Amino acid sequence: MSDATQATAPHTVPGLDPMEAERVVDVLQARLHALNDLALTLKHVHWNVVGPHFIAVHEMLDPQVDAVREMADTTAERMAALGGVPIGTPGALVARRTWDDYEVGRADAVAHLGALDLVYTGVIEDHRAAMKTAGDIDPVTEDMLIGQLAKLEQFQWFVRAHLESGSGRLSTSGAHTLSDAAGQAARASAGGA
Ligand SMILES: [Fe+2]
Repeated sequence: MSDATQATAPHTVPGLDPMEAERVVDVLQARLHALNDLALTLKHVHWNVVGPHFIAVHEMLDPQVDAVREMADTTAERMAALGGVPIGTPGALVARRTWDDYEVGRADAVAHLGALDLVYTGVIEDHRAAMKTAGDIDPVTEDMLIGQLAKLEQFQWFVRAHLESGSGRLSTSGAHTLSDAAGQAARASAGGA
């Protein structure tokens, strides 16, 4: 490769087309924002959860925060390895995100878990779509996203286990907003519908 070519062509990992690498980087940027948002949201819940299940939920969330922060770090470093510039600033996150800010303040554990269930659904659906896009271009990135999905899906299962009845009914079923999910979960826990 000549010096001139090196100066004009974006560099990425060997064997990957630079334009395709750029596409993967863009997909990963959205995932980086989602993971940073999720880590902050999990800490917000950790601080604001109250009620009889306080300690169980408070302590359940810190390992999730640690794991999600690690995912964000790995994602950002993969972007850099691919030749991209990972953006980790709050302003960029808020400008690009497509979801609502977490809206539950001090509240009972079950209400927070109902809202968190919906948060995890959004992150996991978008992660799956990103995994499929990456799979067509870059199996290494796909592999990273598969590993992250396995953990995210396990964390959602931890959350959902608090919201399921013995018959397997999920109290947040059909909820489309965080406040609806929180309300449905709280009512089911109190013995209502
Ligand atoms: Fe803490």
